[in-house]
Parts: sequence; C-alpha cells; structure tokens
Amino acid sequence: MADLRCTFAGIKSPNPFWLASAPPTDKEYNVVRAFKAGWGGAVWKTLGEAGPPVVNTASRYGTLEVNGQRMVGFNNIELITDRPLEVNLREIKQVKRDWPDRALIVSLMVPCVEESWKSILATVEDTACDGVELNFGCPHGMSERGMGAAVGQVPEYIEMVTRWCKQHTRMPVLVKLTPNVTNILGPARAARQGGADAVSLINTVNSIIAVDLDAMAPAPTVDGKGTHGGYCGPAVKPIALHMVAEIARDPHCAGLPISGIGGIATWRDAAEFLALGAGSVQVCTAAMHYGFKIIDDLVDGLGNWLDEKGYADLPAVVGRAVPNVTDWQYLNLNHRIVARIDQDRCIKCGLCHIACEDTSHQAVAATRIDGERHYEVIDAECVGCNLCMHACPVTGCISMVEVETGKPYLNWTQHPNNPMRQAAE
Ligand SMILES: Cc1cc2nc3c(=O)[nH]c(=O)nc-3n(C[C@H](O)[C@H](O)[C@H](O)COP(=O)(O)O)c2cc1C
Ligand code: SF4
Ligand code: SF4
Repeated sequence: MADLRCTFAGIKSPNPFWLASAPPTDKEYNVVRAFKAGWGGAVWKTLGEAGPPVVNTASRYGTLEVNGQRMVGFNNIELITDRPLEVNLREIKQVKRDWPDRALIVSLMVPCVEESWKSILATVEDTACDGVELNFGCPHGMSERGMGAAVGQVPEYIEMVTRWCKQHTRMPVLVKLTPNVTNILGPARAARQGGADAVSLINTVNSIIAVDLDAMAPAPTVDGKGTHGGYCGPAVKPIALHMVAEIARDPHCAGLPISGIGGIATWRDAAEFLALGAGSVQVCTAAMHYGFKIIDDLVDGLGNWLDEKGYADLPAVVGRAVPNVTDWQYLNLNHRIVARIDQDRCIKCGLCHIACEDTSHQAVAATRIDGERHYEVIDAECVGCNLCMHACPVTGCISMVEVETGKPYLNWTQHPNNPMRQAAE
C-alpha cells in the first residue's frame, strides 16, 4: 500500500488525517480514543488565557438537513475551551508523552497583546507538543472580544501576532484563517510575511443556519434568542477548496504548507484537498457526526486510491491539480461538448427535458415512440452546459461527450468579441 506518512511543516504523523480543533479534541479522553482509532494527529481545542475559563450556552448547535440527509451543514455558537488552562496543559503533555508518533498541535487564542502570546507560548512549549495553531478564525463570541476572526480579518494584525509568536517560540506556527473575508490572499500573505510555518483553513463561515418559526428566533435558540454562528460540514467544502487553491497557486505564498479543512467526510474529499495543494487535512463535523471510526475508511480509501493511480506517497499527489486551476479568461472557448442520453438507463422521468426547455437551451426533445416517452438531445441546439446531466436522477445516464470542431485553443483574451483582446500568439 502507498506510504501515507505525512511530514507537514516539519511535523510528522502516520497519516495526513488530523482532527481539527473542536469538541473532538477538547480533552485527553477524546484525543486518546481518536489516536487509538488511528487518527494521525489532533489540533487541541483552542486554549485561552489563564484565569476563569469562558462559559458556553447550553444549546449551541444547529444543522442544515437536505432531503432527509442530516448535518449536510452544521452550525455552532460554541466558544474556545471551557476547561481550565492548567488541566488542558497537563493532559496535552500526557497525551504527547503516550503518543509520540502522532501530531499534536495546540490551538491558541489570547488577546492581541504581545505579552499574552509570549506567556501562553512558554507554557505550551513545556508540554512538548509539536506545534501551535493560531486561531484567527472563530466568527462568534470571541471576535466581539477582539480575538479570533477580529484578528483574522485584518492582515496587519495577522502579520503582527504571527511575528510575535515566531519570536517567542521555537515550535512550528500554523495560522488558521477565517473564510469570512473577501479575498483569502490578504490574510494568507500576511501570515507568510509574519513568518508562519503553515496556514490552515477554513475555520467556520458566518451564518444563521435557520430560523425557528415557532420561537421566531435564529436557531439554535437559547431561552428564546439566537445569534449568528460558525458554519461547517460538507456544505462548506467548495468554499474551502477554492480558498486552498487560491493560496496554493499564489506566487507570494509559494511553498507555504497548507492544512486543508472544511467538509471533509470521505477519502475522496481529502484527496481533493491534497490535489489542490493541502499537505495535511483536518476533520471536525464528520467525526462529530459518525465518530472516530471513520478514520478506517479515510485511511483505506486514500491508500487504495493512491495505489490504483500509481502514486507511491503523499508528495506525489499534493498540489497535482494546482497547475490546472486557472482564471476564467484562460479557458478554451472552442472546446465543445454535447449531452448524450443512455436510453437503456433512462427512466423517462422527463427532468432533463423540463430543465433544458424551461431554463436552458431547448435542446432535449420530448417525443413518444410506440406510445412510450422518449428523450433525445438535439445536438445542434445543445451548448453543453451540463444542466441536464446534473438534474438527471440516474447516475451515469447522461454524459457529456466531446465534439471535434477542428478549431484551435482560443481564450477570452484572444477572442474577437473581446474589445480588449490581445493578438493570438
Ligand atoms: C462545535 C465546533 C467547535 C469548534 N471550535 C473550534 C475551536 O475551538 N477552535 C478552532 O480553531 N476551530 C473550531 N471549530 C472549527 C473547526 O476546527 C473547523 O475549522 C470547521 O468546523 C470546519 O471543518 P469541518 O467542516 O470538518 O467541521 C469548531 C467547529 C465546531 C463545529
Ligand atoms: S447540456 Fe445543457 S443545453 Fe445541452 S441538452 Fe443538457 S441542459 Fe440542454
Ligand atoms: S432526466 Fe435522465 S432519467 Fe430522466 S428522462 Fe432525462 S435522461 Fe431519462
């Protein structure tokens, strides 16, 4: 089987699957169970300053259900750890001692004051953990106190705090980024400028997941009131993939390791993050939904896929899709495809016809043959938009096939319709 061992920003783990900083990594009991199950690493639930811990609300989670599928999206209004700092530090030290081969990273969030970072770094270093992750991402509760996303949305603060941390510790410093920004490159470049050893993303997306129409308040409601929270789970994966890819192909961030987070529930999700440049991946919602045993499928699935494709190890696949991520203006406008219906698989539901007829290009003819409904693509009208393929309820029934046009590659920068076009080379 392919070699799944991972070296990320100098941190070693037996596989690239780490648990993200969240309830699954809140205490020794959980992290030990996870390591026993086979997780390669864990980012401990975010620690705050010494003193009385934060206080959480009772109700704190909300979910997005789609057609009966639970937790497609997940929302929380939880804060950082609500356990005493010294208890967490003692447990971290013990876990690292007992599990030396696993990656153990400690997530931190303290006020934007150099002394606060300096002092917590010294105590964390004493645990012998493998690195720290700066939580500049939490969008609720802590940001109102000038921490979390309040730092992560201001590149100058990211750079400043990262630099402090690099000055005050020898441990690798990962900077966890918030997706609640207009352009992820500002924060990513600031982290690099500050000397970050890596970035990890995404933290949760600002959201109101639902409104309780009986209580007339956002869910989850706390004694009749609700507030915005952090959104995660499978529904946020596309946002995370895009942000990871943007950083991976940014020349200013070249070589900066990326830990991919957001909606990872299967080996395939993980493989997509790796292909777009993530050197390790982190999982939260899927573990909260299905428990730690999902690591078996993640590891086996990723290993089998690497074997099947002939990739010997993780470096062979990390970033492999990045050269194929481009800007829209460089896509080939002469590339032509049309839809094809496999009549043997078709169940005659008519969804392709109605989707194309009402909202696309009137390119699926609905007829009757021997009294039975029949659907056929009209090649001359089909623009190849894919809508019918996605709307069709039968997997593999509609496929898109390439049409040979004999025309050369032509992108928008070269197109005659573009008033700003450059001469074709
Ligand atoms: C209940 C809950 C609590 C979380 N707490 C933290 C936290 O303390 N620190 C942190 O950096 N991220 C925290 N996160 C964010 C996760 O680490 C992760 O970035 C996010 O959930 C996206 O991954 P996922 O889609 O696999 O859940 C939390 C997420 C959830 C669901
Ligand atoms: S690919 Fe688009 S245009 Fe072609 S048949 Fe399907 S929906 Fe219609
Ligand atoms: S949507 Fe698919 S199954 Fe339904 S009629 Fe069209 S091709 Fe057949």
